Amino acid sequence: MTSARGRLTKDGIRIYEPGDFAGMAEAGRIAATILDDIIPQIFMGQTTTEIDRIITEMVTDHGAKSATIGYKGYQHASCISVNHVVCHGIPGEKKINDGDILNIDVTVIVDGWFGDTSRMYVAGKLPRKSERLIEVTHAALFKGIEAVKPGNTFGDIGHAIQSFVEGHRMSVVKDFCGHGLGQVFHAPPNVLHYGRAGTGPVLEEGMLFTIEPMVNLGRSETKVLADDWTAVTRDKSLSAQFEHSVGVTATGVEIFTLSPRNLFHPTYG
Ligand code: MF3
Ligand code: CO
Ligand code: CO
Repeated sequence: MTSARGRLTKDGIRIYEPGDFAGMAEAGRIAATILDDIIPQIFMGQTTTEIDRIITEMVTDHGAKSATIGYKGYQHASCISVNHVVCHGIPGEKKINDGDILNIDVTVIVDGWFGDTSRMYVAGKLPRKSERLIEVTHAALFKGIEAVKPGNTFGDIGHAIQSFVEGHRMSVVKDFCGHGLGQVFHAPPNVLHYGRAGTGPVLEEGMLFTIEPMVNLGRSETKVLADDWTAVTRDKSLSAQFEHSVGVTATGVEIFTLSPRNLFHPTYG
C-alpha cells in the first residue's frame, strides 16, 4: 500500500495538498502532448489500431505508463470513438473515412499521478452539422470548467453543461460521467454532466477530477456493444466528447491537460 494523501470529505472525495498539483500538471502535460503529437496520424485510410500503436510508443517515450492497458481487462493505450461511438471505442482495423469524427482518449500515469484527457479529430471534409456538434461539445466542457470554484457544487457543473447543450438542441449523455482522479484513475465523485444548480457535493480546494461531457446530435440514450466496452448512441446519431483533468484551487480551477501547442481545435478540411 502506498500512503494515501490528504483527507476525505463526507462524500468520500479526497482533498489533495497544493504541493500535489505539480504532479498532476506533469501527468496532464504528457497526456495532452500525446494528443497534440498524434494529429498527423489522423487521415483517411488510417486505422485506429495504428493510431493506438503510435500512442503506446509515445507513452513509453515520455517515461509514462498507460493507465488503460490492463484496466478491467482493457488492452489498449487509448480509446478511439468514431462517429456514433460515444466512448470506450476499441482500436481496430477499420479505416478512417472522409468526414469521420473521432474522439481519442488517453490516460497516463506519471510518478503515480493520473492525467486523463480526450479531444475530437476529423478526417477529410467535415459536414457542417458535425462541426457544430464538436464546437458545442468543446464549449460545453468549458461551461462546466467555468463553474469550478470553491463553494460551488458538482450540480452547478452539470447544470452549466446540460443547459448549454440543450439550448443548442443537442443532448447530453447521462450513462457515463466524469470522475475523481489523482493517485487513482477513477475515484469519487461521479461528475455528472447534467443536473440542478446548487445540488451535489460542495467543491473544495484540493479536489481533483475530470469533466468529460459526451454530446449527441440526436437522443441521449446509449448502449454498450457485445464487446462490453464500445458505447454507441441508440439512435445511431453522431456523438462528440472532450475531457480535461482539473483541480480546484483557492480561487477557481487549474486545468492540467490543456494543449501545450493550443491544438485542441480539430483541423477542419
Ligand atoms: N479514459 C477513460 C475515462 O475518461 C476511461 C477509459 S477506461 C478504458 O475515464 F479501459 F476503456 F480504457
Ligand atoms: Co476520464
Ligand atoms: Co479519459
